[in-house]
Amino acid sequence: MARWFVTGIRGQLGAALARRLPGGEVAGADLPELDVRDAAAVREAIGRERPSVVVHCAAMTDVDGCARNPSLACAINAGGTENVAGAAAESGADLVYVGTNEVFDGEKDGPYSETDAVAPVNAYGRSKLDGEEIAIRLQPRSWIVRTAWLYGAGGRNFVHRILEAADSGRALRVVADETSSPTWTEDLAAAILHFVARTPHGVYHAAGLGGCSRFEMARAALDLSGRAGVPIEPITSADWPRASRPPRRTVLDCSKALAAGAPLRPWREALAAFLGERRP
Ligand SMILES: NC(=O)c1ccc[n+]([C@@H]2O[C@H](COP(=O)([O-])OP(=O)(O)OC[C@H]3O[C@@H](n4cnc5c(N)ncnc54)[C@H](OP(=O)(O)O)[C@@H]3O)[C@@H](O)[C@H]2O)c1
Repeated sequence: MARWFVTGIRGQLGAALARRLPGGEVAGADLPELDVRDAAAVREAIGRERPSVVVHCAAMTDVDGCARNPSLACAINAGGTENVAGAAAESGADLVYVGTNEVFDGEKDGPYSETDAVAPVNAYGRSKLDGEEIAIRLQPRSWIVRTAWLYGAGGRNFVHRILEAADSGRALRVVADETSSPTWTEDLAAAILHFVARTPHGVYHAAGLGGCSRFEMARAALDLSGRAGVPIEPITSADWPRASRPPRRTVLDCSKALAAGAPLRPWREALAAFLGERRP
């Protein structure tokens, strides 16, 4: 009998959790075998495994795709959460809901803490905020773990895209006026395990410590992977039109998680560790 059930188990974070948990204690599902929009299938899958904790990682994470199709974003990120949280509550499992920095509007002059007002500025952020509210309503025994700018093994993420572009000789232009908290999926997985084992339910920010711009993150990825000679041009978001409007400054203040003993570390240190593990 599995103790953990992970939705989106083959995504970046889901796979990191599955690697970290003992094989006999983790079950999970992903597309195509389980669509979280299918309430009956979600109830059946979670009911069958009878987990003590459900970690809900599945989401529509393509932020521009969410802007182009907000009703699909809502169906997956809010409707899917309704199904997962409802099934977790029905089967007596606690819930971890993975939230996002994009619930904030990015206009604060400083890092965001858990008590700051939420005000999403794009469809992804709105759908993920709806998911938070639904999760807490249907399963009060929830940890809402907000994170940002995830990267990890096997994922299609910003770090991989930068290194691929550098290796293919494409000119690199990266926005310097969007800041947040780069987070390695391995560190977030460790923090989630810590919350479940040792901290009361509630909202937590868990991300790489400190903050940086997309440009600084790209520069660090190149420098730390032996590509220090590759040039990047800093640009502004106005030079990089997108379907979605990203919030400008959403560095996450993780002091609540740190005070609770979560094993987080500075974003640059984590990025160095990730790149050190990655094959060239
Ligand atoms: N990535 C970030 O920078 C970031 C930042 C802050 C918060 N988060 C949150 O962190 C969590 C994990 O993110 P991640 O980067 O690991 O995402 P990811 O790699 O995109 O993984 C999400 C998984 O969910 C699956 N999925 C999508 N629609 C689904 C559906 N209708 N039913 C079931 N599964 C579905 C995806 O399958 P397909 O690949 O086939 O679509 C994918 O395997 C998400 O809740 C996300 O909102 C992510």
